[in-house]
Amino acid sequence: MSHTFTLDGKTIPFTEGQTIIQAASAAGVFIPHLCYHPEFKAHGSCKLCTVKVNGRQTASCTMRAAAGMVVESETEEINAERRALTQMLFVEGNHFCPSCEKSGNCQLQATAYHLGMMSPHYDHFFPNRAVDASHPEVLLDFNRCILCSLCVRASRDVDGKNVFGLSGRGIKTHLIVNAKSGQLADTDFTLADKAAQVCPVGVILQKRQGFAVPIGARKYDKAPISETAEEGR
Ligand code: SF4
Ligand code: FES
Repeated sequence: MSHTFTLDGKTIPFTEGQTIIQAASAAGVFIPHLCYHPEFKAHGSCKLCTVKVNGRQTASCTMRAAAGMVVESETEEINAERRALTQMLFVEGNHFCPSCEKSGNCQLQATAYHLGMMSPHYDHFFPNRAVDASHPEVLLDFNRCILCSLCVRASRDVDGKNVFGLSGRGIKTHLIVNAKSGQLADTDFTLADKAAQVCPVGVILQKRQGFAVPIGARKYDKAPISETAEEGR
């Protein structure tokens, strides 16, 4: 028996156990997402991947595909909600793109472009979280963290190091470095770690490498995020 569901009217095949976003991605259909990464177990925190399944909203990165499902994604209503979530992420942190070296290569910024976000809309929180520049090769700017937990999962599941963690509750939730001092220099983190490669925004940055790619040649200058979906990021 063939397994398919429909996504915005298009027939999407899937294999048993695949989530909606995995099946959509395999079929070349982009669903916005920030905390989902094909190499890691879903986290389900950003809610950017929300779709309607048979009329009810759910996160497509955690919802298993089932035969005959009717899934809606690219609708005015859902994209307006995604845009509001993106705006909230922008105001909760200090996402001042003109001075951020991740600009043009940033998944949050590219998603905001994709959703047509023209302004942050909400009042900025202007957090003042101390930057960690203790490590010889890597800088951490916690003011840009969107709490996607990708670095936590990469460090724990791939690097076997547990360098990062999420701590606190509600608005006080924040990324921590698992060292007595709380400093990255006091961990065994290296630039070769998977955790150094996965941050979708501009928190984990290589020192002395900023602004290396000219404007026009940065990842999302060349193609919008919806067209890089086959890379799974
Ligand atoms: S530092 Fe980057 S990868 Fe880690 S939780 Fe924050 S946004 Fe996600
Ligand atoms: S990508 Fe599904 S909740 Fe973040």
